[in-house]
Amino acid sequence: MAIREIIEIPDPRLKQVSSPVESFDDDLRVLVADMFETMYGAPGIGLAAIQLGVPQRVLVIDLQPEDPDAEPEVCHAHGDEHHTHQPVIREPQIFINPEILESSEEATIYSEGCLSVPEIYADVERPSRIRARWQDLDGKAHEEEMDGLMATCLQHEMDHLEGIVFLDHISRLKRNMAIKKLEKQRKAA
Ligand code: NI
Repeated sequence: MAIREIIEIPDPRLKQVSSPVESFDDDLRVLVADMFETMYGAPGIGLAAIQLGVPQRVLVIDLQPEDPDAEPEVCHAHGDEHHTHQPVIREPQIFINPEILESSEEATIYSEGCLSVPEIYADVERPSRIRARWQDLDGKAHEEEMDGLMATCLQHEMDHLEGIVFLDHISRLKRNMAIKKLEKQRKAA
C-alpha cells in the first residue's frame, strides 16, 4: 500500500469522465488499498480514483475514521511525549461502477468539502435519499437504499466520476470567491 498524491483543482484531470472497471484483478485491489491509505492519511471520508489521477469508476468511503464517543487512550508510541489518540474504528466501503437507481424529491443541504478543493466548504443541496447499485472488489453486485451523510457522500464522490466537483453545484459568485480564497491560501503556504 502507498499514499499517492491527491490532485487538486484546477487540474484538468478532475474534469475527466472516468471509465467503467472491467477487470476485477490485482491492479484494482492495489488501487483500492492505496485509495484507502491516501484517504485515511489526508484525512477524508471519501475519495474517487480520479483524485489520484486514475480515471476509473472506483470510490472509497469511510464515514467513521474515528469514534467520537470513545474514551481517549494514552499512546506511548512517540517516545517520551505522551499523545492521546482516539481509538480508530474503520468502516471501509468500496463502490465500483456505482449507479443511482432512484433519488428522493426531498433534498438535504450539507456543508461539503473535498480533498481536491482543500480548506474550502460550501452548502450543497442534494436528494436526501437514494437507491444505489454498485460492484465490490470481486465484481459482485450490491443494491441498497441510503440516506443522511452516506447518501450525500456517495453522490459527491459519484460526481467526480463525471468530472464534477462540489463547487460546480454552487453559484458562480460563490464559486469564484471560493477559488480566490484557495489561491490566496496557496500563495501564503
Ligand atoms: Ni470530492
